[in-house]
Amino acid sequence: LWPEAAGRLPKADQQKQMEAVGQLTGGIAHDFNNMLQGVVGGLAMARRQIGRGQPERAARYLDVAHGAAEGAAGLTQRLLAFARRQRLESRPVDADALIAGMADLIRRAMGPGIEVELRLRDGAGVVLCDPNELESALLNLCINARDAMPEGGRLAVATREVRLSAADVGNGEAMPGTYAEISIADSGTGMPPEVVARVFEPFFTTKPLGQGTSLGLSQVWGFVRQSEGLVRIESAPGRGTTVRLLLPLHEGRPPATAEPLSPALPSASARGTVLLVDDEDVVRGPAAERLRELGLAVLEARDGPEALRVLASSPPPDLLVTDVGLPGGMNGRQVAEAARERLSGLPVLFITGYAGTALPPGVEVIGKPFDLETLARRVQAVLEARRQNPGSAGGP
Ligand SMILES: Nc1ncnc2c1ncn2[C@@H]1O[C@H](COP(=O)(O)OP(=O)(O)OP(=O)(O)O)[C@@H](O)[C@H]1O
Ligand SMILES: [Mg+2]
Repeated sequence: LWPEAAGRLPKADQQKQMEAVGQLTGGIAHDFNNMLQGVVGGLAMARRQIGRGQPERAARYLDVAHGAAEGAAGLTQRLLAFARRQRLESRPVDADALIAGMADLIRRAMGPGIEVELRLRDGAGVVLCDPNELESALLNLCINARDAMPEGGRLAVATREVRLSAADVGNGEAMPGTYAEISIADSGTGMPPEVVARVFEPFFTTKPLGQGTSLGLSQVWGFVRQSEGLVRIESAPGRGTTVRLLLPLHEGRPPATAEPLSPALPSASARGTVLLVDDEDVVRGPAAERLRELGLAVLEARDGPEALRVLASSPPPDLLVTDVGLPGGMNGRQVAEAARERLSGLPVLFITGYAGTALPPGVEVIGKPFDLETLARRVQAVLEARRQNPGSAGGP
């Protein structure tokens, strides 16, 4: 986006934007290289141990590599949050209940020197957002507050309802209307205006190197914006900081009580045929192999047109598993539509690394990078649902 935009910006702003992009690129490169080092080093040592006939030691190094890869996945997750391209599971959430449920966690995170006060408006209202992301945003903000109060102080978490007029929301940043405001106020060091201006930038930090990822506030910002809300910060040196999250009130039905997760299915052998579509051999190969281990027949295709040829010439599959971003002129959503024209009711499980293509709500999705066990479990669950309820499985 920025090169075109930069053409229209005054010189000073252009300079700042270049700096911000440089900071972002450098930050990603630095963190990623460290994690890749863990992967590369762990794999190299595992290979050596296998060569020495020491499989148990090799397994330990493989765990190291796996842990580093998971760290990298956490980083891309936070970057996608900032890019407002996260896969959010939004549902009606009672903000007060959620905060009350976090009270112990917050108190423990603050430690003894900080007095914690919750001022929750009874049933402050139901907001539509992803409760897990809201929790992690609040925790991030509380930890920032703690870090700003090394000598102790006061933290107040409060909720209230506010009405924002067209003038309040400014240049179409958000819709005028009623919002639930969650404020996190600390009596800490506060920030000068030039710091406030930059706090949402990824990798911007005033903390010593190596103390976290400095993606905290950029993640909060991305999550709230993607949930159609606003973030406001008031701060001054020596006067503490108040961060306000404004999330649109949800007028519809009350929040559903959390549904228990469906228990893991036994990983015994499964029956059926899966059509697996992904252009990346390194993604498709191991996934296909894991599904075959389950006892499934797996048909593979690299893109949409190939998938349709396979559909025309092979026994009909019981499930389509497809990547969303595909070469060959069709995205995964279009592959699913075309496949369902041929086989109505065919269940579809999407795999995606990035929520760039909108998927219909309620479809089955797995985010990359996924664990092969997660894939195996989800595939078995969809196939099982289809067996129990033929013709209606798989969502819209
Ligand atoms: N409550 C606060 N009081 C004073 N300064 C703050 C506060 N919250 C954020 N900041 C400033 O904003 C910067 C960016 O915050 P952010 O949460 O994005 O990253 P971080 O806290 O530095 O790193 P991380 O969250 O990964 O540990 C902080 O380094 C700090 O300078
Ligand atoms: Mg932080």
